[in-house]
Amino acid sequence: MTVRFTGSDRAETERLRGEIAEVLTRARARTAGLTDCLDEADLVAQHSRLMSPLVWDLAHIGNQEELWLVRDVGSRQPVRGDIDHLYDAFRHPRADRPALPLLDPAEARGYVASVRDKVWDVLSDSPLQGSPLVTDGFAFGMIAQHEQQHDETMLATHQLRTGDAVLTAPPAPSAAVPISGEVVVPAGEFEMGTSTDPWALDNERPAHPVPVSAFAIDVAPVTNAQYQEFIADGGYRRRELWSERGWAHRTESGLEAPEFWQLDSDNRWWRRVFGTMTPVRPNQPVVHVCWFEAEAYATWAGKRLPTEAEWEKAARFDPATGRSRRYPWGDEAPDESRANLGQRHLEPADVGAYPAGASALGVHQLIGDVWEWTSSGFHDYPGFAAFPYREYSEVFFGGDYRILRGGSFGADPVAVRSTFRNWDHPIRRQIFAGFRLARDLRADER
Ligand SMILES: [Fe+2]
Repeated sequence: MTVRFTGSDRAETERLRGEIAEVLTRARARTAGLTDCLDEADLVAQHSRLMSPLVWDLAHIGNQEELWLVRDVGSRQPVRGDIDHLYDAFRHPRADRPALPLLDPAEARGYVASVRDKVWDVLSDSPLQGSPLVTDGFAFGMIAQHEQQHDETMLATHQLRTGDAVLTAPPAPSAAVPISGEVVVPAGEFEMGTSTDPWALDNERPAHPVPVSAFAIDVAPVTNAQYQEFIADGGYRRRELWSERGWAHRTESGLEAPEFWQLDSDNRWWRRVFGTMTPVRPNQPVVHVCWFEAEAYATWAGKRLPTEAEWEKAARFDPATGRSRRYPWGDEAPDESRANLGQRHLEPADVGAYPAGASALGVHQLIGDVWEWTSSGFHDYPGFAAFPYREYSEVFFGGDYRILRGGSFGADPVAVRSTFRNWDHPIRRQIFAGFRLARDLRADER
């Protein structure tokens, strides 16, 4: 069968090529920014046992790009067929990666550049339709998201690294409007997940109806000031606020405040932010707390974490049309007026900073600032099909993970949407995660 392109098909393919080139270029500029600022010793060092050496992330980014775009989509010869095993995340846990015979920084930079050169070739040859892997440029979008996700991981490594500050960015905005309290999300079914978002990953699919009882959700994530009240009220010492597992973890790990917080002799909290000590900003969402801390705070506040479905309904449901939106504010891509994304700032913005980013129901800052812990584990949606490989999501279903939603200041717009699902262990604190609270309605509110 001969496929006949109409003029508008050709224009659409060219538009898509341009978009792919833009997101790949943006990701690479960020990767360079996160690695060019450090010397060789800092790039090969392991700054935390939780993280890979940055030089591993760098070459792994290139290796995934080579496997999917150069070899699979492009059917080209390998650039480096001999190093796949070193950069296979499933073969080597992060703690073991420094001992591997990795490419050194200069070799890694040369490698990712050679791979990218071939990818430009593959992109100009690809029809961007036909097989599911290339339709709508999926594989290219997947690789751009992969690089940005590693960039966020590398940003977390920068936060863990001790030593002089090397990253700079303007401070995140203050509140534009005062916001507080909660909104009621009405009972009823909504459409969760997506079947149409071209670059959505397998775990976000397919769209399916989910019934949700009426509930209340906070208009903003929990702030540093609110979290300090929990600390001051003995939150970390009161056993009754913690679940059994949470208390065991709190005790064993000696948790007393969010990671990177320090109390000075005048009883003021400071926070180390990418190598700079800074007073804790009261109206910023709290960040670097684990799921167990979020759970204890919620108990203290007489509320609970939202389920994943509740979070997504609060973010997407438009009561006027009954439709689920792509983003809280509508279907248009994020921009600076709507969300704190893309490492434009090195911190969350104060609550109330993005009134233009509020959802139809009036919930603010669901996208950007901090990943938000939900009460839900990671499970497949009804009708799930692994694509393009089981290791993307399927092997993690049912594990000891909690779902995080919404993206952080360190997440790029290409890798964040209201259907996007992140997951991590409930003890993890190095990720840019905070939380917001929800609660059931009382009988007199229903
Ligand atoms: Fe990866």
